[in-house]
Amino acid sequence: ATEEENVGNVKRQLAKLFEVSLRTIVPDEPEVEPVVVACAGKFGDYQCNNAMGLWSKIKGKGTDFKGPPSVGQAIMKNLPKSEIIESCSVAGPGFVNVVLSKKWIAKSIQKMLIDGIEKWAPQLQIKRAVVDFSSPNIAKEMHVGHLRSTIIGDTLARTLEFSNVEVLRRNHVGDWGTQFGMLIEFLFEKFPNVEEVSETAIGDLQAFYKASKQRFDDDPAFKERAQQAVVRLQGGEPKYRNAWLKICEISRKEFHRVYERLGVHLEEKGESFYNPYIPGVLKELSDLGLIEESQGARVIFLEGFNIPLIVVKSDGGYNYASTDLTALWYRLNEEKADWIIYVTDVGQQQHFDMFFKAAKRAGWLPTDDTLKPKVTHVGFGLVLGEDGKRFRTRSSEVVRLVDLLDEAKDRSKTALLERGKAEEWTEKELDQTAEAVGYSAVKYADLKNNRLTNYTFDFDQMLNDKGNTAVYLLYAHARICSIIRKSGRNIEELKKTGEIVLDHMGERELGLHLLQFSENVEETCTNLLPNVLCEYLYNLSEVFTKKFYSNCQVVGSPEETSRLLLCEATAIVMRKCFNLLGIEPVYKI
Ligand code: ARG
Repeated sequence: ATEEENVGNVKRQLAKLFEVSLRTIVPDEPEVEPVVVACAGKFGDYQCNNAMGLWSKIKGKGTDFKGPPSVGQAIMKNLPKSEIIESCSVAGPGFVNVVLSKKWIAKSIQKMLIDGIEKWAPQLQIKRAVVDFSSPNIAKEMHVGHLRSTIIGDTLARTLEFSNVEVLRRNHVGDWGTQFGMLIEFLFEKFPNVEEVSETAIGDLQAFYKASKQRFDDDPAFKERAQQAVVRLQGGEPKYRNAWLKICEISRKEFHRVYERLGVHLEEKGESFYNPYIPGVLKELSDLGLIEESQGARVIFLEGFNIPLIVVKSDGGYNYASTDLTALWYRLNEEKADWIIYVTDVGQQQHFDMFFKAAKRAGWLPTDDTLKPKVTHVGFGLVLGEDGKRFRTRSSEVVRLVDLLDEAKDRSKTALLERGKAEEWTEKELDQTAEAVGYSAVKYADLKNNRLTNYTFDFDQMLNDKGNTAVYLLYAHARICSIIRKSGRNIEELKKTGEIVLDHMGERELGLHLLQFSENVEETCTNLLPNVLCEYLYNLSEVFTKKFYSNCQVVGSPEETSRLLLCEATAIVMRKCFNLLGIEPVYKI
């Protein structure tokens, strides 16, 4: 048998072996790719499902095969010898079942314990990615939709970073556009001396926005001045530019309070950044014959859409689409990204479909979606209140995100106090744990659902310590750490000298699940689905508790060393999942 180095992704490694077999048995069908899935059935751990499809391709072409089962037999017999595989069998219409070698599983885990979890990082064919997420609008409210974008985008960025992709974390804030005319004019009215403007003076920027909108709608003279102000701002007049900067700065501070609490890092390149590049980009598209005149506007007609993509409004102004086309051009040509990912609510799907299509027609992107550079819109559903409607406060206002996060923290602190932690812990410990648990609960409740579905925001549910919640998972992890601690053994020493043995079914099942970390992270990345990782993490904790820990005594058993190493490996994998989900582990419970 050949030495197989475990590079993490088991599915991929098995696929390589099946590939050899397929090339041997059907050398004339080079495009047939191996299909391998994890199956966790009683026949095996993985299954190769090529036989049926292959049979329908080759029957009648004069082969010796007599049907799918005989194709399956041939696939199995021609598998190269490998220490990964313990045994194989063919079932039903040619499914090839593989039982992994428990020796190899054990060895792979031991190797990870020594080399670090980074060795299990997915290997992607991407060098540099832009993740465009969060992206609130200046002076308008940052709402729960932006919270979803922030949480989902951060996780996707973290998973790609872990997979050794260089990630440009972009905050595409809405800091440009006609609303600034009225905001600036209103600012001049309220503060004739712009230097006096400060956050405390303005107070609530949302209220300021509302008041200026009121003024704009009520007073034609004001409206006139506001429209002038836009022109003067875009013309670069210092007084207007300064006022704009002030307003942006105040908004930015508010956004940062949210990012700080969530531990999310972003780099701002707002809409205004791309503004100077728009004319050049539109000229390029126009030279390609893509842009047409329609009802005074300049538009791109696209097949499959009943409305055209407007790139210059009839008043001559640019819009969301012209900015996004230009940002895409910049990301492709200046930043040389080979994957550009946009995280917004599904309501914006059509906008993305349209300008992606325009970019393909311009030849910026390949028409074949499997080729690079590629673009993906990561859409997500609504956050609902307990009444099943859009999530609002009791007075049906938009929820301020800082208030929401404060409440998560407060509630989780109350829960800790109820469990009598005030006597055991210092005030600082209480606070830190309440924060870690509270914010993690909010994040996990969002991430565990398939992002396309709506979900109901429910504090009681997300802070429950039972069920599929961050609280449950954090406690499960802390308990594992305490098993190791209480054993009194030096785990770092054991990693170097100890050996993992997977003789008990519970041990083997846990070991296999640990090894499947890599393929689950890879699926999370390639399909941009954080819920895949959440599901993996939750199942890991279930397998640990129900299959392993309830059947296999750890401390004081003859297998103590091996089992402690399995505990440690579980804790490491769980912590990596936490890290990718933006969750802070706690060690005391
Ligand atoms: N500012 C937009 C909004 O609040 C989201 C921007 C998303 N990014 C983009 N490149 N269009 O809806």
